[in-house]
Amino acid sequence: MAHAQENVTGPGSPGTAEQDLAALRADLPGFRIWREETCGRIRYVARRRLKGVRPHTVVTACLGELRQEIERACPQIGFSAVRPNIARMYDYLLQGKDNFRADRQAAESVLEKFPEVAALTRANREFLARAVRHVARQGICQFIDAGVGLPACPNVHEVARQVTRDARVVYTDNDPMVLGHARALLAVDSGISVVASDIRDPDALLAAPGVRGFVDPAQPVCVLLTSVLHFLPAAEADAAVAAFKRLMAPGSYLVISAGTSTGTDPGLIRCLQAAYADTAPVTGRTAAEIGAWFTGLILARPGLTDVWAWRPKDPQRPVRPTQARARLLAGVGRKPSGGPAWQP
Ligand SMILES: C[S@@+](CC[C@H](N)C(=O)[O-])C[C@H]1O[C@@H](n2cnc3c(N)ncnc32)[C@H](O)[C@@H]1O
Repeated sequence: MAHAQENVTGPGSPGTAEQDLAALRADLPGFRIWREETCGRIRYVARRRLKGVRPHTVVTACLGELRQEIERACPQIGFSAVRPNIARMYDYLLQGKDNFRADRQAAESVLEKFPEVAALTRANREFLARAVRHVARQGICQFIDAGVGLPACPNVHEVARQVTRDARVVYTDNDPMVLGHARALLAVDSGISVVASDIRDPDALLAAPGVRGFVDPAQPVCVLLTSVLHFLPAAEADAAVAAFKRLMAPGSYLVISAGTSTGTDPGLIRCLQAAYADTAPVTGRTAAEIGAWFTGLILARPGLTDVWAWRPKDPQRPVRPTQARARLLAGVGRKPSGGPAWQP
């Protein structure tokens, strides 16, 4: 079968269909979407960028049906107020206002048994701010916040710009609802770009309009993957981290936080898996597996540690959750460069 993947402007293709295709592509970054003509018949094809994910290909005769068909076949994609949503549940845990009943109920099903998850979520957000400040102080002025979630003060550009006034930030996520919020609330000037992408495909992210020409690939960048990798199966998370490390210029930084099975009550992992069952897998990685993500990087002091323990504001009195049945590990790694040695 001959694919004309990017050729959407063939004879008879109306301009509005092109716009609809562009909108669909922006909303569904995990798919390559194109229009093709075979034996005189037009059809629309959406194919997953990743192999081995079902359904891999969706084909319809009409563009309008393509979105419906994808949403039907992949219920975790597309907007739903009645299905818990990762970003809205996280927003609820942070005491935000952008969540629905389904999100609150799912989050409460976890908090009922493990109330410390709320404090841990706040600790993750505080780690993110401390890590961005640290990296900005090393002279980094381009940031990619991948799996950004709903706006949560302070956001990455707000922290980075306290250090470097002209820091540029790409906010990216695979959830169109999150991207809508980011476009409305975070994209405050030309130094901020909001891009639809799936962290499982870093090559596509770096080639996307809004990143290409905005982030200088020859210069160091800070990639943030905080509280997102545990929503992927292990092999996909490992592959995503490896690809980001490969693509980053020497001198770049990788900031990661992720749930770990090491020291976490297995009951909590089961509880989280049930709460997110309709949304995403939840994978608790061991501390050794998370540590392996930093292979080839120079880990900043204090190394891989609990989110609350990573360079706390007051090292004498770090704000730690009262109960320690839940753990999120955090680390900041630098890709070595041939330049002067960096002092971790
Ligand atoms: C728990 S929130 C974390 C928000 C923020 N990174 C933080 O640490 O405060 C996870 C976010 O990752 C996004 N996400 C989940 N899987 C993703 C994927 N495969 N690609 C891109 N974003 C993803 C969700 O939509 C959600 O907005």
